[in-house]
Amino acid sequence: MTKEKTFPQKAPHSIELQVPTAEMGAAVARLIADCPPLDTNSTYCNLLQCSHFAQTSVAAFMAGELVGFISGYRVPQQPDTLFVWQVAVSARARGQNLATRMLKHLLARPGNQDLLRVETTITAANRASWSLFRGLARRLEAPLASRPIFERQRHFAGQHDTEMLVSIGPFKPRRLSTVTDIGASVLKKQQGRTMTIFEQIESSVQSYARAFPRVFGKAQGEYMYDDQGRRYLDFLAGAGTLNYGHNHPAFKTALMDYISRDGITHGLDMHTEAKAAFLEQLQQAILLPRKLDYKVQFTGPTGANAVEAAIKLARMVTGRHSIVAFTNGFHGVTLGALAATGNQHHRGAAASQLNGVTRIPYDGYLGPDIDTTRYLDKLLCDASSGVDMPAAVLVETVQGEGGINAASLDWLRNLQRLCHKHGILLIVDDIQAGCGRTGSFFSFESAGLYPDMVTLSKSLSGYGLPMALVLIKPELDQWKPGEHNGTFRGNNLAFVTARAAIETFWRDDSFTQSIQRKAAYLDERIQQIIRQQGDGRFSAKGRGMFRGIDCVSGEITSQITRRCFEQGLIIETSGADDQVVKFLCPLTVSDDALQAGIDIVEQSIAQVCAGIDSLPQARDFFKPRAKAI
Ligand SMILES: Cc1ncc(COP(=O)(O)O)c(C=O)c1O
Repeated sequence: MTKEKTFPQKAPHSIELQVPTAEMGAAVARLIADCPPLDTNSTYCNLLQCSHFAQTSVAAFMAGELVGFISGYRVPQQPDTLFVWQVAVSARARGQNLATRMLKHLLARPGNQDLLRVETTITAANRASWSLFRGLARRLEAPLASRPIFERQRHFAGQHDTEMLVSIGPFKPRRLSTVTDIGASVLKKQQGRTMTIFEQIESSVQSYARAFPRVFGKAQGEYMYDDQGRRYLDFLAGAGTLNYGHNHPAFKTALMDYISRDGITHGLDMHTEAKAAFLEQLQQAILLPRKLDYKVQFTGPTGANAVEAAIKLARMVTGRHSIVAFTNGFHGVTLGALAATGNQHHRGAAASQLNGVTRIPYDGYLGPDIDTTRYLDKLLCDASSGVDMPAAVLVETVQGEGGINAASLDWLRNLQRLCHKHGILLIVDDIQAGCGRTGSFFSFESAGLYPDMVTLSKSLSGYGLPMALVLIKPELDQWKPGEHNGTFRGNNLAFVTARAAIETFWRDDSFTQSIQRKAAYLDERIQQIIRQQGDGRFSAKGRGMFRGIDCVSGEITSQITRRCFEQGLIIETSGADDQVVKFLCPLTVSDDALQAGIDIVEQSIAQVCAGIDSLPQARDFFKPRAKAI
């Protein structure tokens, strides 16, 4: 009889099944490390974030490469709380506020607008994360609280620093939303919350709508009205397209007459009465009195179209490729113009190489004592500098989007001299600074320049109607018929209002005088504000009615402009970090409204500065050591 083999029976241990607790963290980590296939599973946590938690995670791409990722989820026990698990930004994308931008994007997503809190964990030493989340709390105007949640010994067996739970909120859902508090156009209730048509189908690329979340229905002069009938003083003026205010009565009458008599409205470059009348007016009231001899090329309707055409013509005429553009310059976001634009946020969206531009420091970029035209001259004189002889220099006399940086008149003259010396074309981009913004019709008049080409757009039509053109010295007008074209090169309605604008405002110098008077008042008030609140650190920017206050930090300016908006003033920011509060009010603004608008800015700055312990310092740039002798 074979003996049946029996295995020795171990005394059975009782197994307990439990809901895990945080105290088990260190033991769980050890167990997983002991089960080798499992620790690799952690790598697909990120995959789960990209699928199951995609709505609460965000990926950022630059030129097709993933450069940023924030992963988060809604805390199951508190679904109104977004827990931010990880924030990753690659070295390539640092210095661009990417983490903040990703957080803002996440919170502004339509599906996330019912959130009331953001939480995350941060170790005491992680300064970058503290600054990111403190900045977010300020932006949301919400309290920030923190307490230890996972402790070094208790939860990590000494292997990891204590993690603090940082909790921001509750905040008003409206703060996060671009458009949730819009009244009349609420169309649909979805998942218990209101959605607007803008949220439903308009692309997330919208920008001004985020800063000014109202539906506007009506405007007149320097005022806009929302669909609730609330009045706003407009110091943005359609981003500089409304130098003569909204719906100027003389332009409106001309437009209505033209429409009621069935004037031509299509945009082809045919000869029309409206175009003839505009050209006549431009010639008589603008070019001849200034002794400027230019041909006029009508391009596609937006500013970037004019810049593209000017760059293309300069390359064609000179047979050279490179264009000199300046630090902090802004020339539009189509690829050619974007190559000349400095701003990383816009350049990053190109997802392709931006070629053919040599970047040179703008006036003042290296401090007040360095004339950067000397640097450019040296580069061009030196056959081994590595800088190719450019076709053209493309310059704004006052950089609008780049922080209201005004080049000195001497620097501008030197730049023109340098262009003549080397046979380079000078293109002045007067799209934002032109049409009276700095005091005269062209911004380069006070410097006495005669550029080879000038781009104009924005306030040219005077009515917010799209229209752009390039003024070209006659010998440079070497286009063959139709060589550069586009369906909308002749907005006849814009011709009608542009003619009316020149006729109304530029027949004598009374408009220039009134701009200069208001500019002097604006300057005086800006200097006062800086003295009162700036603690020597805020500074005045710009020229004429193209002015700004540099508040050093975009965090501060965003609070200031938000407060202004709450008090009925529409005003925007400018600069690489949005650090400049930008005054772009209609040039026709009444004295009372100008005063009222500046009062609001002054109060808002005072309120914001009162709530800040210490004002930020201007960025500390590398200071080379003095040379040993
Ligand atoms: C100086 C300058 N050039 C070009 C542009 C581009 O114009 P648009 O946005 O109409 O294409 C702008 C727009 O702000 C500008 O300020």
